[in-house]
Amino acid sequence: MIDNIRKLHIKLNSSEYDIYIGKNILSNIDDYFNLQNKNNNRKFLIITDDNIPLNYINSIKNKLNNCYVHTIKHGEKNKNFDNYKQALESLIDNAFTRTDCIIALGGGVVGDLSGFVANTFMRGIDFYNVPTTLLSQVDSSIGGKTAIDFMNVKNIVGTFYQPKGVLIDVETLNSLPIRELTSGFVESVKISATFDKEFFSYLSTAPDILKNATEIIYKSLLLKKNVVEKDEKENNLRKVLNFGHTIGHAIEESMNLEFLHGECVGMGMLYFSSNKVKKLITDILKQYNLPISCNYDKNKVLDLIKHDKKASGDLISTIYVDDIGSYKIKKMSISEISKLLN
Ligand code: GLY
Repeated sequence: MIDNIRKLHIKLNSSEYDIYIGKNILSNIDDYFNLQNKNNNRKFLIITDDNIPLNYINSIKNKLNNCYVHTIKHGEKNKNFDNYKQALESLIDNAFTRTDCIIALGGGVVGDLSGFVANTFMRGIDFYNVPTTLLSQVDSSIGGKTAIDFMNVKNIVGTFYQPKGVLIDVETLNSLPIRELTSGFVESVKISATFDKEFFSYLSTAPDILKNATEIIYKSLLLKKNVVEKDEKENNLRKVLNFGHTIGHAIEESMNLEFLHGECVGMGMLYFSSNKVKKLITDILKQYNLPISCNYDKNKVLDLIKHDKKASGDLISTIYVDDIGSYKIKKMSISEISKLLN
């Protein structure tokens, strides 16, 4: 194995798996994971999207005997029931069985959808995640959240289902539009703001994301590992990962996905921060030309917040940051959140 590969081992109640992060590792996926069965005839379905370069797909496909590819259209609006059904059809048409396997190759949409397909096909088949966007590499690739969107509500149908392994090739970031890159970076800012002052200070120095990708991803995932290992199913501590998401998700949906997820989380964090923290986060967002506000429809946003999964009864769990490296979990009513939006 190449030297500068970072490895994390995730140990949960339900399962354990490894994450590898490094350069040019995509084409050696079989060096990292034991994918094949004894007879070397296991079936694989790569689920990917139409933005993923063909050479990424072939890098994996060439290593596997019995490999099929299912391609969806890119973009959040395709994380839907139609694509869920079509992926299942692909598995059934090709006579996949319980011992076969899905490989997700793409960003968060592909990862969330593939995990949901893998969890529900024949009550669960193996699933490997190969995230190709910074957002999915620093966040959604671990922790096992799977989902599709429904009736305009993001991630409203989903499960917890852990991958068997995660391979993060930072070279895939080179083909990413700059907005996708900076949007993903916000999730690192988010997790550092709540858990790690030193890492937050480092991110405040506006590091070159591409040059430092392996370390940024590794440090972000190390923080997330410590959270999901303690609270896999989001009963308590994992809620902290939703910092910026209560309003961020709602802005994202209300603006019909005009803004990327991380851009909305960036704006969302500013509503739940002390003035001091707000300034520090704003400074980082500005350095990467990320938006700090937008003209959303307040009523629409409040309506969406009511449907948010973080709501239990009339109260919504929100995360508030007074000082970098710390957090408070606050239960807030819709009318309290409404005041924040003024
Ligand atoms: N993205 C937040 C979580 O995985 O819990």
